[in-house]
Amino acid sequence: MNSKAKFFKEFAEKSGAVTNLLIHNEDSPYEVWVECDFQDIGRILILPFSHRYFESFRQFYDGRDPEWDLSAKSRSLSDQHGTDIDTLIDVEKRVVSHQDARFLIVTQGHVIGYLDIEEIDLIKAGQKNYFGEDKHAMLDIAISDRFHGTGLASLAIIFLKFVAATAGVSLYLVTSKKNESAIRFYIKHGFQEADPREIFIPEDKQKGEPWYVLKRNEFEKK
Ligand SMILES: CC(C)(COP(=O)(O)OP(=O)(O)OC[C@H]1O[C@@H](n2cnc3c(N)ncnc32)[C@H](O)[C@@H]1OP(=O)(O)O)[C@@H](O)C(=O)NCCC(=O)NCCS
Repeated sequence: MNSKAKFFKEFAEKSGAVTNLLIHNEDSPYEVWVECDFQDIGRILILPFSHRYFESFRQFYDGRDPEWDLSAKSRSLSDQHGTDIDTLIDVEKRVVSHQDARFLIVTQGHVIGYLDIEEIDLIKAGQKNYFGEDKHAMLDIAISDRFHGTGLASLAIIFLKFVAATAGVSLYLVTSKKNESAIRFYIKHGFQEADPREIFIPEDKQKGEPWYVLKRNEFEKK
């Protein structure tokens, strides 16, 4: 196991909610996957996005918090994202072709979470991103309502920090001012509101919503 993966396992198991964690393909930010026992839920998997979970993903998406939308923030995919099979195949292709790292959290065949880091390929190619400068890639996380407040989202964000460090990118996100629980969650995990002067935002994307940037990823030095 590489040192970042080892740190991830220790970090995750320290929470007390996670036991028997195994990491597979740990050197690839696109193909890495994890299995573990998560208290009260049972065995969970964090898997690269796959359209094979289409039916279950649709149920997850339809029951989602209205504050969250699959791809409203991606510049490369249509803003009109639905959950039809073709869209999900397109999303999966972006993972297979190493553009984005996207994952599903699954238990007993049911999707209970979604997480991603978008456009890693563009950041690696040195293209201008919303931060207008270095290595910041946008992340997204959504967990089924019934698993909020269990620490599952915390496991997801620790996993994304591990994936980001493996990919060699930093993290940022944009959320709605109204989404107070998400803002509290991100601040607790080391994000800070960005100074708007630091950010390059194309005119059609300027919506006056707050942007957060991860100040220090503890996985980078591992
Ligand atoms: C944002 C979101 C991911 C946060 O999820 P969450 O359930 O609040 O986060 P966690 O699972 O880490 O739970 C945190 C709470 O559970 C409690 N908890 C219980 N067991 C825990 C454990 N083992 N580890 C961590 N926290 C635990 C903590 O006390 C914590 O409460 P606190 O914030 O008062 O400290 C979730 O609200 C969500 O999916 N929202 C809808 C989608 C969305 O808006 N995404 C953001 C778009 S940018």
